[in-house]
Amino acid sequence: MKLINIQTLSLMLLAMAIAATARNPVRDTSGKPLRRGVEYYIKPAKTDHGGRFTLIDRNGSCPFYVGQENTSAGRGLPVTFAPFFEEEKIVRETRDFKVSFAAATTCVQSTTWKLDGGLIGTGDEGGYSNYFYISPGEVENTYVIGWCPDEACPGCRWLRCGQVGAIIEDGKRLLVWAARSVLPVVFERARY
Ligand SMILES: *[C@@H]1O[C@H](CO)[C@@H](O)[C@H](O)[C@H]1NC(C)=O
Ligand SMILES: *[C@@H]1O[C@H](CO)[C@@H](O)[C@H](O)[C@H]1NC(C)=O
Repeated sequence: MKLINIQTLSLMLLAMAIAATARNPVRDTSGKPLRRGVEYYIKPAKTDHGGRFTLIDRNGSCPFYVGQENTSAGRGLPVTFAPFFEEEKIVRETRDFKVSFAAATTCVQSTTWKLDGGLIGTGDEGGYSNYFYISPGEVENTYVIGWCPDEACPGCRWLRCGQVGAIIEDGKRLLVWAARSVLPVVFERARY
C-alpha cells in the first residue's frame, strides 16, 4: 500500500470516473437508459426461456433465491439498481451495481442479489458478492448479467468471473452465475 501515493490514487480515481461516464447506458425495452432506483422487470430476450425474474423459495425455507417465473404469464417481481459510484444516476454497460427486488419477503435478510455457491441468492452482508454488471448481448437492447466486481474491488483478481444463465431444479427455474449457456435478457420498466 505504501507504494501508492495520494497523487497516484487520485489519478486512478479520475481515470475510473472518466471510464465510468464513457460507457454506454444500459437501455430498457423502450430504448431509455436504466435509472438508479427505478423499477424494472427482467425477462428473457427470447421466448421459451421461462418468464420474468422473481424470488424463488427453493425448499420451503429462507433465504430466497433469484430465479424466473415458469412462463411468460407469471407476474414476476421488479428490481431496482444501485450503481457502485454514488453519483452515478444511470446504469452503464460493464459497471458494477447492486440489484434488489422491490418486494417484501418473509425472510429477514434483504432482497439484494448475491452469489451463493453456484446460484444467485439474496442477502447483503456488505461484501463483493453483491456487485453485478451488465454487458451488451448479441442483439440491440439485449444484455447479459455477470459477476466480476472490478470497481467495487479495484486490483482484485478473481479466480472465477461468470455470466448468468438458468437451470431447472425440481421444476423451478434458478439463476446460476457461471453458466455454460448464458441467458440474454431485456429490461422492461415496471411503471411510469
Ligand atoms: C433444503 O432443506 C434441507 C433440509 O431441511 C436443508 O438442509 C437445505 O439447506 C435446504 N436447502 C436450501 C437451498 O435451502
Ligand atoms: C414453477 O413450477 C414448479 C413446479 O410446478 C413450482 O414448484 C414452482 O413454484 C414454479 N415457479 C414459480 C415461480 O411459480
